[in-house]
Amino acid sequence: MERHIKIFDTTLRDGEQAPHCSMNPAEKLEIAKQLESLGVDCMEAGFPISSPGAFSSVEMIAKNIKDSQVAALARAVQGDIDAAYNAIKHAVSPRIHTFIATSPIHMEYKLKMKPEQVLENVKNAVSYAHSLCGNVEFSAEDATRSEPEFLVRVFDTAIKAGATVINVPDTVGYSLPEEMYNLIKYLYEQVDGFDRVDVSVHCHNDLGMAVANSLSGVRAGATQVECTVNGLGERAGNAALEEIVMAIRTRGGLFGGYTKINTKQINRTSRMVYNIIGQSAAINKPIVGRNAFAHESGIHQHGVLAARETYEIMKAEDIGITKSKLVIGKHSGKHAIADRLTEMGYKFTEEELSSYYEKVKDLSDKRKYISDSDLEAMVYNRERTSGTYKLESFDVHTSQTESSVCVIKMSRDGVIMEKVSLGDGPINAAYNAIDKITNNLCTELLNYDIHSVSDGNDALGEVTIKLRSGSRTVTGRGLSTNIIESSILAYINGINKLIELE
Ligand code: KIV
Ligand code: ZN
Repeated sequence: MERHIKIFDTTLRDGEQAPHCSMNPAEKLEIAKQLESLGVDCMEAGFPISSPGAFSSVEMIAKNIKDSQVAALARAVQGDIDAAYNAIKHAVSPRIHTFIATSPIHMEYKLKMKPEQVLENVKNAVSYAHSLCGNVEFSAEDATRSEPEFLVRVFDTAIKAGATVINVPDTVGYSLPEEMYNLIKYLYEQVDGFDRVDVSVHCHNDLGMAVANSLSGVRAGATQVECTVNGLGERAGNAALEEIVMAIRTRGGLFGGYTKINTKQINRTSRMVYNIIGQSAAINKPIVGRNAFAHESGIHQHGVLAARETYEIMKAEDIGITKSKLVIGKHSGKHAIADRLTEMGYKFTEEELSSYYEKVKDLSDKRKYISDSDLEAMVYNRERTSGTYKLESFDVHTSQTESSVCVIKMSRDGVIMEKVSLGDGPINAAYNAIDKITNNLCTELLNYDIHSVSDGNDALGEVTIKLRSGSRTVTGRGLSTNIIESSILAYINGINKLIELE
């Protein structure tokens, strides 16, 4: 009989923990709701003890998510477990996820504990978590570099203390697929009650084998896979959710199971996450890269036209990439735009639709057709022109030999402010002028990235920047066919976010 292979998403915890992937609470909630539409069985919303902000984001997600379990991470200590429980206790299906390291190197150098003390901790932490919440996951950090016999004792103890899910992490991405397979098989044979709990794998990608290792774990009997959207995560990342799910769907027979993921939401989820962290997929990224379903060579094109299966093992539509039957352009009305956005899986209010309509009209003065990527960029940028400061106008003069100069007009609560500044290039001049208006709120520009949303020299340019003010960092984004305007909008968007955090 086919079994249900559960998907545990940790984009909001292990993914968000990675450098340049931080998200604000509203962005986390937006992703959590999308993960719910995607159909993940459980989402790990964060590590509540790590900061008051992390606690309140997890709490907000727990209160808003109905159809997926919501997990919170805790080290195997009472304070962490209390924080995790308090953050998720209002969820429809809460889960406490507690962990401790079990490898010799982690026990000796990080924990400074003897194996027997670790076992004592496992027992105390899991039974305490179980006294608060019926659904407790226990992870043995660095399991793949732990002594297998010790791991058996650890998991025996956790199950006896009430763990309902046992997770086997390849924390440093060290394992090879065959080793993962053998380890899970061995644990099934040796651990008492292993077949009565969910057995999970959690693989990191340091050697590029996170997906292969996870799938090997599933073939050996694991019933849950921990993964992140786009493979975000510490160092080289975690196993990519979209790759795991499509591998199980495409080669289901080998795994004897299926996931409950609504694959048609994959493309959208991936785009949303990339958009929020201000990155984009490598063009050859499996499943969600721009070339994943593209065919350039004549032989391949001919083959695909004759029979799609010659060179495609998956359908683009299955991950939610739909080909438009309608062409959006200058003469498109609100209805056509609404239909296309709905086909692409977006929900919107009447007010948002009116603003997309205005943007389509503006953009079609500059280019003939509006692509799905253009529409998508408009959706993701809908909120980004609101906030304390607004751009009224700008004027830039630049040349190869002289400093650039920018005059910028911005408003705050209806009051117009104008400043002029020089700079090393037009963007530097504009940012210097904005700094004068905003009293140098931004103390450092950490990152600046620009990419074109679609093809052609009339494409929309999207700028993503990271700003710092003291200890706070935010991402700002701006969208326009004029890249100086995108850059200015991104900077103002970042400054407005810094003000929201004050
Ligand atoms: O990689 C890891 O070991 C983890 C644990 C906390 C599960 O992320
Ligand atoms: Zn991890």
